[in-house]
Amino acid sequence: MNTPATPAAIDQRGRPLRDLRISVTDRCNFRCVYCMPKTVFGRDYPFLPRSDMLSYEEIVRLARLFADQGVQKIRLTGGEPLLRKDVERLVEQLAAIPGLELTLTTNGSLLAARARGLRDAGLHRVTVSLDALDEAIFKRMNDADYPVARVLEGIAAADAAGLKPVKVNMVVKRGTNDSEILPLARHFRGTGHILRFIEYMDAGSTNAWRSEEVLPAADVIRRIDAELPLEPIDPNYPGEVAERWRYRDGSGEIGVIASVTQAFCSGCTRARLSTDGKVYTCLFATSGHDLRQLLRQGASDERIAAVIAGIWRDRDDRYSELRGAGISPTATVKKIEMSYIGG
Ligand code: GTP
Ligand code: 5AD
Ligand code: SF4
Ligand code: SF4
Repeated sequence: MNTPATPAAIDQRGRPLRDLRISVTDRCNFRCVYCMPKTVFGRDYPFLPRSDMLSYEEIVRLARLFADQGVQKIRLTGGEPLLRKDVERLVEQLAAIPGLELTLTTNGSLLAARARGLRDAGLHRVTVSLDALDEAIFKRMNDADYPVARVLEGIAAADAAGLKPVKVNMVVKRGTNDSEILPLARHFRGTGHILRFIEYMDAGSTNAWRSEEVLPAADVIRRIDAELPLEPIDPNYPGEVAERWRYRDGSGEIGVIASVTQAFCSGCTRARLSTDGKVYTCLFATSGHDLRQLLRQGASDERIAAVIAGIWRDRDDRYSELRGAGISPTATVKKIEMSYIGG
């Protein structure tokens, strides 16, 4: 966005604070095998009680203070953010903060009916997760009963409402849905939607991640390029998570997010705010910094701003880089779940 450059807080590795990902609920109506497997989360999993969740007023206050520290993009995530009641009301209040790009990541199941309202509330873009076009494989990935068509309707509604370009995220799990790479590429080519392939990550502690199930991004590109020739293109902005490619025949672009085989920690400008108000400076962090307590104790804006700046200044995280180097900094510690921290 065309923000006048706010002097951003800078961390121990010289990285500015630019993005804030806010998890607005830890609940989800899907049970994706790589995120909230049914065997662990079932129906009765103890999700956060309402009183532990930040209110919209608390979220907006923190968002303003993060923007003062350099944040230029806010992404609402979850869990499934559209399950949080009247999330449009939150979007409206966040959209009033000047100079912010406002986006949302959703599983798409409830998007068709909500896209227009989200756009009217001031949302700029959406990213929709879709791991397969084949009904049986889709079901195997998300362990929920929603048909693929519902998600495709959501994507179409988002596009029609102007929430674009719509990005579509596919997590690739070798042996489970990698056969869907080409069908998805063929389907979205020429639509203006940007399909991105994400390497299956060792996030959280419940998905029983095995490195054999990671299909390297380079292989994804090779498979697509063999049928639909591709060429690399430059990033949109420094530190972009996805590596961009375009079809040589001009029919659009795709992206790969190679967080396992080509770590991108050196450009990582992202902070994460959990549903209950903790700040995590890495997706793989094992503990967060509690801002809810400060808020509810009546701390001033100045005090909270100083705490945020201090958290970022002390930050030294580079989990994926270390994992790539064969070091697992949190091998013996329970990692935070993506659904709680906001993937
Ligand atoms: P835009 O460029 O604005 O579309 O945002 P983005 O590329 O950050 O998109 P998105 O939030 O959809 O990120 C896609 C996926 O990349 C996430 O769901 C994660 O799986 C992964 N990802 C995003 N940020 C990080 C990160 O900081 N570290 C790691 N390891 N993975 C990340
Ligand atoms: N590996 C990669 N991406 C994941 N996500 C959740 N869990 C994982 C994982 N283990 C991401 C996906 C999904 C979004 C909601 O969170 O991008 O689309
Ligand atoms: Fe829900 Fe997204 Fe996690 Fe799937 S990946 S269980 S849709 S939060
Ligand atoms: Fe950022 Fe941590 Fe992901 Fe590295 S592993 S890119 S530091 S969130």
